Amino acid sequence: MRTTPGGVPVSAVDPFGDDFLADPFRWHGDLRDTGPVVWLERYGVWAMARYAEVHEALRDWATFCSSAGVGLSDFRRETPWRPPSLLLEADPPEHSRARTAVARALTPRTVRGLRDDFSYAAIRLAGELAGRGTVDGVADIAEAFPLRVFAEAVGLAEPGGEQLLAYGNMAFNAFGPRNELTMASLRQAAEVGAWIAAQCARDALTPGGLGARIYASVDDGAISADEAALLVRSLLTAGVDTTVIGLGCALDCLARDPAQWQLLREDPTRAGAAFEESLRYASPVQTFFRTTTRDVTVGGVLIGAGEKVLLFLAAANRDPRRWDDPDRFDLRRRANGHVAFGFGIHACIGAAMARLEGEVLLEALARRVGRLELAGEPRRRLNNTLSGFASLPLQLTPAEPWSPGVAAAG
Ligand code: HEM
Repeated sequence: MRTTPGGVPVSAVDPFGDDFLADPFRWHGDLRDTGPVVWLERYGVWAMARYAEVHEALRDWATFCSSAGVGLSDFRRETPWRPPSLLLEADPPEHSRARTAVARALTPRTVRGLRDDFSYAAIRLAGELAGRGTVDGVADIAEAFPLRVFAEAVGLAEPGGEQLLAYGNMAFNAFGPRNELTMASLRQAAEVGAWIAAQCARDALTPGGLGARIYASVDDGAISADEAALLVRSLLTAGVDTTVIGLGCALDCLARDPAQWQLLREDPTRAGAAFEESLRYASPVQTFFRTTTRDVTVGGVLIGAGEKVLLFLAAANRDPRRWDDPDRFDLRRRANGHVAFGFGIHACIGAAMARLEGEVLLEALARRVGRLELAGEPRRRLNNTLSGFASLPLQLTPAEPWSPGVAAAG
């Protein structure tokens, strides 16, 4: 193992290189084993890939802050590509105020209220696809479903699937370096950014949706109208592509493992557990950065103040120090405690909604589809932060009409 003159483990790995992004899990073991804290010489940043250290850094927001950006770019020195998020790229007390406004709009009750509409949409989609034979698990399922339900839940005037996907892709690429992936997706920044901004205006949002509910905090003086627009933008940035990638990964896990699909078929109410385990196993959001606010010693390594630290959520979610047989997808596992939704004050505020989407969709498919198999080689999608598929050829065999799952689905 190479070390710096001060004895800190060094890695030459480029976590934003195509080789890495095409199969990130292949590299994680080395990063974890190199040490609790590793110096990534390519970018001059620190990295943590073990569960304990990642978890602790996520918890300790006062030392590992987000306001200098949760990407490689350091907002104290570089101008961000867009006005920073009031949630993701903020620290308390500003973060707390913004988070309260969104939490008031996206309560557990609100999410429960979405269940019937989401389930209906999932059952319809599963019914449409089950008899079709070969489908693309990404375009026909993982994109089609969230785009259908999410735009309506937020209250967007236009469905705008293409723009939502393009915006998510650029935002998550932009957390990485200015490599080809980032530059290519930012070429659409002006056009797609203008579309997104227009959707976030109060009068563009339909009454009763999540967007309108965020604006309700303007009326009681908790936030300004400009802040509300940025908070609606947060939902549009963080709520679509992440879920699309997550659903695609869940389908991939189940299609590769007939025994796991069978377990889900036998009891489709395991759908929530299956989605949770796929999040642990595949970690749609692979990494986020933090910036140190003070000198801090982690695992015997002194990290100075003002340094960037890359947290490998995906590597933490498969750390054998935390999980038994971590590279095995098993929906019977207790996947609780994974950091696929982050942890601490920035933990995903849309997690309940994402979980609802995953659960109702997988349940509907398990009731309608007898066999779910790969029909060709999946094509991975490269993104500096997200890891999943660009296309996932699937063969769907409809369930026998008399099987218990189908009867229960009505
Ligand atoms: C499977 C789908 C999803 C995954 C894997 C995911 C993952 C994450 C992660 C890892 C974080 C933590 C960021 C950090 O610590 O810096 C986060 C934060 C966030 N997520 Fe999600 N997310 C998903 C779906 C959603 C949805 C559906 C929404 C909106 C409805 C959403 C909105 C947000 C927002 C606004 C934040 C920032 C919270 C804050 O900084 O306080 N996410 N998400």
